[in-house]
Amino acid sequence: MKLVLVVFAVAVLTVTLPLSAQTPSDITLPAPQQEGGMPLMQALKERKSTREYSTKKLSPQVLSNLLWAAFGISRTDGRRTAPSARNFQETDIYTVMQEGVYRYDAKENMLKLVAVGDYRKKTGAQAFVATAPLNLVYVADYSKMKGSKTDQELYSSADVGFISQNVYLFCASEGLATVVRGWVNRDECAKVLKLGEKNKIVLTQTVGYPKE
Ligand SMILES: Cc1cc2nc3c(=O)[nH]c(=O)nc-3n(C[C@H](O)[C@H](O)[C@H](O)COP(=O)(O)O)c2cc1C
Repeated sequence: MKLVLVVFAVAVLTVTLPLSAQTPSDITLPAPQQEGGMPLMQALKERKSTREYSTKKLSPQVLSNLLWAAFGISRTDGRRTAPSARNFQETDIYTVMQEGVYRYDAKENMLKLVAVGDYRKKTGAQAFVATAPLNLVYVADYSKMKGSKTDQELYSSADVGFISQNVYLFCASEGLATVVRGWVNRDECAKVLKLGEKNKIVLTQTVGYPKE
């Protein structure tokens, strides 16, 4: 009976504790909630870029919902919430938070640990990136693409645009603040993400609660 209670308590804590209170390791996200939200036309009206953030963290549930909205799996054949050129699905989303850097695994609905520590300021040149709770980094994995280098660059950039807009609309719907960013030292950021030669940072995107 005691063991059952301990297992239950650990499960509850994993879902409810802010991620910063847990020891950094791979994180299994709660199942994304795929219903509800603001009417589409209202979300489009309220979509905007914001550059002032509260330090309040996103709960694991909000993070899971956000990543699913961004580029989660929406159909039984593995296709996603955003289109991708020739269905290469070459975009990896990295989450850079106070406690560490993770790569989103949509299939497993997990965050895979990449690095422990606070690397938020490496994700951009603007001051707010260091204190906002979450910076997404969109990385193209060219090893998943075919065609010319020009095609790969154009298509992967377009693909990230769709993902970023999904995040914008999710944030509008949830009362979150966000801004997509191209102003980032890509070489420095790539080191933090431990990227290989075939990986290219396309854009970054800050997400958090608006500053009150
Ligand atoms: C490809 C791209 C790169 C951007 N890079 C930055 C950036 O580095 N920093 C920033 O503060 N905003 C950046 N923005 C946001 C734009 O400045 C913003 O979308 C624009 O001012 C219009 O404002 P709105 O998004 O509220 O409509 C970027 C937008 C796009 C599409």
